[in-house]
Amino acid sequence: MALHTAFTEMFGLRHPVALAPMGGSAGGALASAVSAAGGLGLLGGGNGDADWLARELPLAAGGPRPWGVGFQSWAVGVDTVSRSLEYRPDAVLLSFGDPAPLAGPARAAGTRLIIQVTTLAEARQAIELGADVIVAQGTEAGGHGARRGWSTLAFVPVVADLAAPVPVLAAGGIADGRGLAAALALGASGALIGTRFLATAEALIDRAEQQAIIDAGGEDTERDGVLDIARGSRWPREYTARTLRHPFHDAWRDREDALAASTEAKADYRRGVASGELPRQPVWASQAIGLITGPRPAAGLVADIAAQAEDALARALGR
Ligand SMILES: Cc1cc2nc3c(=O)[nH]c(=O)nc-3n(C[C@H](O)[C@H](O)[C@H](O)COP(=O)(O)O)c2cc1C
Repeated sequence: MALHTAFTEMFGLRHPVALAPMGGSAGGALASAVSAAGGLGLLGGGNGDADWLARELPLAAGGPRPWGVGFQSWAVGVDTVSRSLEYRPDAVLLSFGDPAPLAGPARAAGTRLIIQVTTLAEARQAIELGADVIVAQGTEAGGHGARRGWSTLAFVPVVADLAAPVPVLAAGGIADGRGLAAALALGASGALIGTRFLATAEALIDRAEQQAIIDAGGEDTERDGVLDIARGSRWPREYTARTLRHPFHDAWRDREDALAASTEAKADYRRGVASGELPRQPVWASQAIGLITGPRPAAGLVADIAAQAEDALARALGR
């Protein structure tokens, strides 16, 4: 039983799996490995770092098709998206913030537009903008997402109903084939997977951070705005981030306004990072990290997730 869906059909994929465009971590090698394995590799263009894109876009573009590139809508301008389109990606994914000003160039270039949504209002806007694929992201996800978001289990079927016939991918807390099977059962046409791919040979991630993800469990993650405020990030406050727990969580949990007002606390954070007492940056990670047992090449992972999903669905049907 191969898993054929509207999403695999649209892109000619062997498996209904997309690599999440993890800013800075999903580079050209990882995107290419996922695409070569029959999934959709999406480069993590993040907030549009020009040097990073100049290095990684040619790698993805020189690899197998289809591939795409993702951006954080709140952080990039039309120029960044337009420049990336010169590499002729098969898809552009926009997340977090207003995608409307950025959708035009992708459309004009004939590139598929994927919009990741975290609330119903964002889902309705993505439908109005004519997204080719909508990613419904639940709060189990690693990295950023809605402060007042939904769990993946509750969000995906609602967005699938709303968006039909537009294919929907589920994102957030999917780290193996059982999660992919669940996504399909919820009415999604596939899964967009992030954190699981951080534990691969191809991910652009510090090896100590990778090991910390492998060693930790879901209870070691937290979702809030504490670390963004402490590090002086420009991320809009309506988006929080799920990360591995950090000493600043213990000091400032549920006191984000007080942290925002404390120049001393932010200076402490900077000093802690400079001296090596605090991690260099937040370790963004999913609630599903307990399912990640070790680093491995991305290609085998895509095939295994698909095979495990087929098995899980067959078992659920008692076959
Ligand atoms: C390290 C990391 C960085 C991320 N950066 C981005 C990003 O730049 N743009 C984006 O659309 N999503 C980003 N995400 C979120 C993913 O697109 C996706 O929603 C999430 O990884 C799915 O949940 P999972 O981690 O449980 O698989 C990031 C996720 C992680 C773990």
